[in-house]
Amino acid sequence: MKTNKIVIGCDHAGFELKGKVIEHLKARGFDIQDVGTDSTASCDYPLFAKALCKKLQDGEAELGILICGTGIGMSMAANKCKGIRACACSDTFSARLTRNHNDANVLCIGARVVGEGLAYDLVDAFLDAEFEGGKHQRRIDLITAIENE
Ligand code: RB5
Repeated sequence: MKTNKIVIGCDHAGFELKGKVIEHLKARGFDIQDVGTDSTASCDYPLFAKALCKKLQDGEAELGILICGTGIGMSMAANKCKGIRACACSDTFSARLTRNHNDANVLCIGARVVGEGLAYDLVDAFLDAEFEGGKHQRRIDLITAIENE
């Protein structure tokens, strides 16, 4: 990772866990930009997925974290955004490998799926891993070709 800037967003279901993850990441020295939501009031997760992805598309950060109830809706919405490769993960192996092999730029977490301890391990595994390039870059290029069809 070239910068320590991370964008984070959530819906109402992810709001409480987001606060804890932000504190965890700040303690690790990351510079966090939060695109909301800002309370547990019911809201629509695609709006926050789009806001976060726009920050990545504009080059304001390289990596983002989205938290909703399951992580699934956020990942579906984020993956509709050009240049975004989002993965909903609830195990650390996948969180690491999706950086190593898929060059994922957004990690999605389900606040109703994982506890805070596992959420910290997931973000650490994701943010500490690097894309391996090589044959994996060829496959990312093929994903991008599908996106451009
Ligand atoms: C909200 O109730 C819930 O549907 C949302 O947080 C998320 O889990 C969607 O995938």
